[in-house]
Amino acid sequence: MGIETSCDETAIAVLADGRTVLSNIISSQIDIFKNYGGVVPEIASRHHLENINGVLEEALTAAGVTLDDIDLIGVTDGPGLIGALLMGVSTAKALAFAKDIPLVGVHHLMSHISANYIDYPELEPPFMALITSGGHTEIVRVEDYCHCEVLGGTRDDAVGEAYDKVARVLGLGYPGGPKIDKIAKEGDPEAIHFKRVYLEKDSFDFSFSGLKTSVLNYINHEKQAGREINRADVAASFQEAVMDVVAEKAVQAVARSGMKKLVMAGGVAANSRLREKLGALCEKEGIELYRPHPALCTDNGAMVACAAYYKYKSGQKGSLDMDASPSMAL
Ligand code: KG4
Ligand code: ZN
Repeated sequence: MGIETSCDETAIAVLADGRTVLSNIISSQIDIFKNYGGVVPEIASRHHLENINGVLEEALTAAGVTLDDIDLIGVTDGPGLIGALLMGVSTAKALAFAKDIPLVGVHHLMSHISANYIDYPELEPPFMALITSGGHTEIVRVEDYCHCEVLGGTRDDAVGEAYDKVARVLGLGYPGGPKIDKIAKEGDPEAIHFKRVYLEKDSFDFSFSGLKTSVLNYINHEKQAGREINRADVAASFQEAVMDVVAEKAVQAVARSGMKKLVMAGGVAANSRLREKLGALCEKEGIELYRPHPALCTDNGAMVACAAYYKYKSGQKGSLDMDASPSMAL
């Protein structure tokens, strides 16, 4: 069983043998946070508390099992919102104690990477991974099921964060990522030129705060000049500027490592333009690209169960004094 509550999704899944999904129940708080324009941490944890027993029941019923059939519980213990994480960790500990089931804490990004093992049964490490989510943008070398080396990451905003902020100023609502993805399809990606920020030569780090400011400045400038803003063009041009850099750096990292496999992970891996761009670049470079189903890219319990399965198999076990850690290093 995998339990995920690091942000605004209360998610529990039951898997067989680490990779076969028997159930994957996700209760999203998106409708609540639409009214706030973003996640309010304290409200998120209260909703996890209200939802978690129902989600657990549903996950067991849909899988056709009872708690007596569960032989391992995996739970996200960081990074994430502390109050939200604690809801999952407390639930996992209570179940583990009551039913005497082994418990494993899982790093949120390791579980995002593991989503690929579910959709691609033949996939095995080592490979390169591009993690793009609401909180992270990282290029990592995945050595085995439990270890990886971070080659680069964002120095300011994560990609998803930049998407959500730009969507807000465009009045598209929350969460902005899927909204920008959708509206950008109707826009011209070359309508406005936003600078691509590559940082130092050979660096696999990212920076998106300058781009975000450029978009805000553009919008304010147009408004002051009394011109109407074409939201589709702004969205498409912003998206192109972000994804040009993200895709190029990821492929460069794979090429330099001599590896031939790249996996996509995290909520922003659901982005259609990024999937398309990486598809084309990887084909050109002879790199095998793994693109999990969009529903496995955003937060879910199945990826947590999968990551926990491999962590447990490698001999690592959690204990009932496990704590949640909001800023856990990968
Ligand atoms: O991995 P995730 O579900 O939660 C975190 O761990 O952060 O990622 C959520 C992020 C949000 O910023 C959301 O706007 C973004 O993923 N996202 C997308 C798309 N779907 C979700 N961004 C761009 N295009 C999408 N289609
Ligand atoms: Zn996530």
